[in-house]
Amino acid sequence: MAALARSVLVTGSSRGIGLELVRRLAASPRPPQHVFATCRHPQGPGGKALQELAAQHSSIKLVQLDTVNLPSIQGAVRAVGYHLKDQGLNLLINNAGISSHATLHSLDSQEMLDVFATNVVGPLQEFLPLLEQAAKGTGKEGLSCSRAGVINISTKLGSIGLCLRVPEAPMDPYRASKAAQNMVTRCLAAELQDKGILCCAIHPGWVKTDMGTEQALLTVEHSVRGILTVLASLSQDSSGAFLDWEGNSLPW
Ligand SMILES: NC(=O)c1ccc[n+]([C@@H]2O[C@H](COP(=O)([O-])OP(=O)(O)OC[C@H]3O[C@@H](n4cnc5c(N)ncnc54)[C@H](OP(=O)(O)O)[C@@H]3O)[C@@H](O)[C@H]2O)c1
Repeated sequence: MAALARSVLVTGSSRGIGLELVRRLAASPRPPQHVFATCRHPQGPGGKALQELAAQHSSIKLVQLDTVNLPSIQGAVRAVGYHLKDQGLNLLINNAGISSHATLHSLDSQEMLDVFATNVVGPLQEFLPLLEQAAKGTGKEGLSCSRAGVINISTKLGSIGLCLRVPEAPMDPYRASKAAQNMVTRCLAAELQDKGILCCAIHPGWVKTDMGTEQALLTVEHSVRGILTVLASLSQDSSGAFLDWEGNSLPW
């Protein structure tokens, strides 16, 4: 099986789904040449798991990236560009996210803004030139993750169509932010299609991570194995889709 992409960047890879994405990409039989494992504190205690992985796999490059801090994002773009030379970035996985268990009654507006800044805005705008460069430079037609793509890790809880009840944890700001992120995905898919860049939203399932808690149904290994299989299957027809970790289509 061919490599998913020549270069992949994962945000929020210090733990949970992001860490497992980096681990599995680097350990795959045909790994990407560059796996940019980004997190807020790569050299701190929170970056220890990533440091250990990077010591085992030369494809992994640790890059500092706080997705709500513009100078940090710009520094990450420079660091990534340095490694890529003039080949561009094939795949950006916007995985970094924060939850909020507030209800719309208990919420203060700053909390809502913080959740939106992390879950909706992210670093895409600054990485776009590198994605465009990859889309032009691969010599490939159509849309695929191996050419150029943006994957937004979303959640079923952000689906307005499903409007799932979560009685024990309302999570209104989180759900509103993911609904907004889903709209960003749809808009981007339409906007970037002519530039050769695919864009999709992926629901990873309910996963045993710090965010998902131990009560979740899926192990992080199970979810990420599914996500990577889905990413490898994406094409022109699936750009703009909202899919789960098994490739099932979800209502927006
Ligand atoms: N777990 C689930 O059941 C589930 C279900 C649906 C969707 N998701 C989505 O999946 C994604 C990953 O979730 P997870 O379960 O792996 O969560 P997690 O275990 O809480 O990990 C979240 C990751 O995001 C990072 N992060 C948060 N804010 C950041 C920022 N400003 N800049 C850079 N990194 C930041 C954290 O870094 P630090 O270590 O520095 O805090 C951490 O690496 C999220 O987008 C989440 O909404 C998860």
